[in-house]
Amino acid sequence: MITKEQKEKIELENKKIADNISHIKHRIVVFSGKGGVGKTMVSVNLSYGLHVHGYKTGILDADITGPNVPKMTGIQGEVHISGNKIIPQESHGIKVISMANLLPPDQAVIWRGPLRSKMLNQFLGDVEWGNLDYLIADLPPGTGDEILTIAQNMDPDMAIIVTTPQELSLIDSVRAISMAKKMNIPNIALIENMSGLICPECGHRIELFGIGGGKKQAEEMDIVFLGAIPINLEARKLADEGKPIVIENEEADISVTIFHIVKKIENMFNKNKKALMS
Ligand SMILES: Nc1ncnc2c1ncn2[C@@H]1O[C@H](COP(=O)(O)OP(=O)(O)OP(=O)(O)O)[C@@H](O)[C@H]1O
Ligand SMILES: [Mg+2]
Repeated sequence: MITKEQKEKIELENKKIADNISHIKHRIVVFSGKGGVGKTMVSVNLSYGLHVHGYKTGILDADITGPNVPKMTGIQGEVHISGNKIIPQESHGIKVISMANLLPPDQAVIWRGPLRSKMLNQFLGDVEWGNLDYLIADLPPGTGDEILTIAQNMDPDMAIIVTTPQELSLIDSVRAISMAKKMNIPNIALIENMSGLICPECGHRIELFGIGGGKKQAEEMDIVFLGAIPINLEARKLADEGKPIVIENEEADISVTIFHIVKKIENMFNKNKKALMS
């Protein structure tokens, strides 16, 4: 049983979050059943892709214990606090907030679920996001506390589930899709990542984790298939250096696919807007 004071405190916090994110037009959560499938890579490059298309964009690194967004966006140093607001950092024009920049670099975060959720609520309620067209939340793997907190308090209008074409990852993605459906997220979509590799030496295509399973999965579960992103060695190298491939090399196969996905996301929201206005 929670006390009246506790209830009031929760309501106050929820109102603060709702007010703070009310100037963000679209809120997207990126998650997966399995770890290491490319959620952060996808979140980061989609954010830059949307920025290149003229949208004001931010990334909320919702992976509290394993925050990788700063590494992939090249963000260093500590976050500034102004009054009672946390000022997000900026990378190539996008706003970023991550646990990695709130702690000394070698300090591990060993927090149980409720504490991680509290931090996420601060990211939503206390960060000076300002006016944004898109906020993308990069979640840790699995279907744990973070996704529940984000789904309840960020009120996302889109969930992107990332999978590789590998059977093991596809099985786990079913759980993630089911969770997004249970949480009534209006637009649910799947991206197949690490979908084939073109050998840079001979041009031969290697299907490292198989291919095509994502599209089939999306059709079976009646969700949108956004596209199949290939493995790209240059993208991996650049990611390690904190440079986004979509900005560094717009012509790379992976960048072309990501821009194609960005266009689909724009269209989805524009169509929804038209449907609402008609
Ligand atoms: N399409 C791709 N081509 C080349 N490298 C990729 C691709 N997608 C992801 N990677 C690389 O694979 C590694 C894992 O990707 P990433 O960190 O984005 O996965 P994740 O799902 O966020 O992992 P975690 O579950 O630990 O959060 C990274 O080194 C990333 O740069
Ligand atoms: Mg990650």
